[in-house]
This record gives sequence, structure tokens and C-alpha cells, in this order.
Amino acid sequence: MISTQMSDALNKHMNLELYSAHLYLAMSSRANDLGLKGAANWFFVQYREEMIHFMKFYSYLTDQGVVISLQASEAVPNEYNSLLEMMQKTLKHEQLITSCINELSEQAVNEKDHATRIFLQWFVTEQIEEENNDRDLIAKLKLVGDNGHGILMIDGEMGQRVFVLPVGSPLAV
Ligand code: FEO
Repeated sequence: MISTQMSDALNKHMNLELYSAHLYLAMSSRANDLGLKGAANWFFVQYREEMIHFMKFYSYLTDQGVVISLQASEAVPNEYNSLLEMMQKTLKHEQLITSCINELSEQAVNEKDHATRIFLQWFVTEQIEEENNDRDLIAKLKLVGDNGHGILMIDGEMGQRVFVLPVGSPLAV
């Protein structure tokens, strides 16, 4: 049993996860355009992860007997001048997601909705990892500055990122 207020809030957040997926897919395209194939891969993996997050909310709501409501997705920005700018915007966006997850968790606790609280726990942990990865890359990019060789080294590292389907995840693209 889930309250209407809780399911509405989760449904709203589910749409934000879809927006996140689109945001990173656009960044992947932009990175490719900048000649940064490794970064394009990194953002494409991020896009796929966000689709999993979206599907986790979709499946949870469906399992709770909620008919989901897909909102038209907002257009995402696709103009970035550098990889550093993209990573800084990524961190800022993830910090927004973290605060949304925290608010949802607080709502679940206040409503004594333990099923939703437990469902959200995976996301609480995931956000620590997401923000940490972004901070690491920002620090490295700041160290190399405008040095092309340094940027290409980081790009090569970003090219190593591999998408891993989390255990028990609903299938997604
Ligand atoms: Fe779905 Fe990047 O948080």
C-alpha cells in the first residue's frame, strides 16, 4: 500500500531520471563532436545507468499497483565548450538528484512507508558513488587544465568505463 502523495512524488522523480538519461546522451554526442571518444563512452554508459534508474522506479511503482504517468521530457542542453564544463554540470545535476532522493526518503520515513524507504536505500548509496566519480574527474581535469595531452589521457581512462547491469535490475536499453 502506497499513498497517493508518495506515488506522485516517486512518479515525478522517475521522470527526472529519464531527463538525466537524455542529459547524458546529449553530453555523449557533444563529447564525440569534441573528438573525445572516451568521454563519449563514459557519458553513454551514464545514459544507460540512468535508464536503469528510470526503470527501477517504473517497476517499483508498477509492482505497487500504480499506473505510471510519463511526462513529456524537457529539452536538454547540448552546448558545452569543454569536458570540464560537462563534468561540472554533471556533478551539479547529480547533487540535485541526491537532494531529491533525500527528500523522497524523508517523505517515506514520515509516512512510515518502509517499503519505499528500503527501495530508496539503493539510490542513497548510488548517489555517493556518482558524485564521487564526478569529483574525481573534475579534479583530474583541473590538474591538466588546457594541456591536450593530459585531456587525452583522461579521455582514454573514461573510455575504459563499462556498463554493468546491477543485480536484479529491470531490463532497459
Ligand atoms: Fe539516476 Fe545519476 O542518478
